[in-house]
Amino acid sequence: MSVSLIVLAAGKGTRMDSDLPKVLHRLGAAPLLYHALQAGQTLDPAQIVVVAGHGASLVEKSAHAFDAAIEVVHQAEQLGTGHAVAQAAPLLANAPGDVIVLYGDTPFVRTDTLQAMLDARARHAVVVLGFEAADPGRYGRLVVDSDSLDRIVEFKDATDEERVITLCNSGVICADASLLFDLVALVGNENASGEYYLTDIVALARAKGLSAGVVICDEAETLGINTRAELAAAEAAFQARMRAEAMENGVTLADPATVYFALDTVIGRDTTIGPNVVFGPRVTIESGAEIKAFCHLEGCHISRGASVGPFARLRPGAELAEDVHVGNFVEIKNTVLDEGVKVGHLTYLGDTHVGEHTNIGAGTITCNYDGVNKHRTEIGPRVFIGSNTMLVAPVTIGRDAMTGSGSVITENVPAEALALGRAKQVNKPGLAVRLFDRLKSIKAKRQKEGQ
Ligand code: UD1
Ligand code: MG
Repeated sequence: MSVSLIVLAAGKGTRMDSDLPKVLHRLGAAPLLYHALQAGQTLDPAQIVVVAGHGASLVEKSAHAFDAAIEVVHQAEQLGTGHAVAQAAPLLANAPGDVIVLYGDTPFVRTDTLQAMLDARARHAVVVLGFEAADPGRYGRLVVDSDSLDRIVEFKDATDEERVITLCNSGVICADASLLFDLVALVGNENASGEYYLTDIVALARAKGLSAGVVICDEAETLGINTRAELAAAEAAFQARMRAEAMENGVTLADPATVYFALDTVIGRDTTIGPNVVFGPRVTIESGAEIKAFCHLEGCHISRGASVGPFARLRPGAELAEDVHVGNFVEIKNTVLDEGVKVGHLTYLGDTHVGEHTNIGAGTITCNYDGVNKHRTEIGPRVFIGSNTMLVAPVTIGRDAMTGSGSVITENVPAEALALGRAKQVNKPGLAVRLFDRLKSIKAKRQKEGQ
């Protein structure tokens, strides 16, 4: 059975008080929008349509970065959730199978819950995701008769008796595509808000003799973000869930409360994460690796048995093969380290490839940027780069070569060669003592003159 998604993301998010559209604010180092998209994408949808309005071009760009196949429709004026869904009709009205409507600002809806809604479609033409609200506030109320859903009444339009109802509408709705758009086309705006309510499709379906039903989820899943305070609370909830999931998946967290995950962080079992580690987007770590305290990782891949940190920074394009060691105060960017490479201390490697079992000495820097262009450094296998070597790119160091400490390497080094690119040392016998004496006598003379 095929399914497509509509993600509503046209709202301004007035209460965020921001130039950025609400759905692009970050949660787990990803736009809020990506959370709903990811939950929906796991269902392998045939089509995904995002309804954008405020900041539409930014929302569109972000949606395409998530998945280039996503279609974006523009809702110029936000006339209500029913009107928003209607904007997707030209793209989906003839789609086979079901459509699930999600909100871009509601990040915690789980794939299992969406699957339960699809399953419930076997019994009902329209399925709504509801929850028992601790404080029903201004949510739409689900009016249920026996085991089926009669209608949804918005808070503003509800009678006092209806407002007592605690079973509320999350906003997520599922129906057959052609039925959904037939019903949405019938929705009017004669209500307290003067809006086209998507929620009206329940009563419209019932009036046609069709059945509607409710799938109930935990209230936490339906949490929507409207303010920066809610965003911060959602971040805390997201991190708590990611930490718990990592540990359930066999990852050791020395101090879970200090480890920050991104939406797409993937970590293999028997990997150990020390305290105060931050994962930016696109990090994958295989099994049995160790990330020591105070590391910042982003856009990188770490293979089995590698160890990183403490105090290391891996930036986009850092690719660590098996048993690589990256130590303290090392920054790696757009660089591949082959198996067994060691970069122990105080080093910057950018736009570089390092062959297997090469050792990079403390204080090594690839000078990859000339102020205008970036250049590559190629270091062969089993090389020894002496401490404090400047590798002025573009430059190639052949296999089994060595550079002397303190060298500035501006020319390629052949395989097996020792390269020395530093001034030759000279020793002057006794000169240190004579120099000290002279300096002391200058100081004494100045003091005497009251300087
Ligand atoms: C909606 C539901 C309500 C439910 C609540 C859950 C309706 C009529 N009401 O109310 O029953 O309890 O969500 O949070 O559906 N949007 C658009 N275009 C529009 C209007 C809204 O894209 O024209 C988007 C918003 O950006 C938002 C979502 O749809 O992501 C929900 O809109 P919102 O205005 O928050 O609806 P509520 O009044 O909260
Ligand atoms: Mg809302």
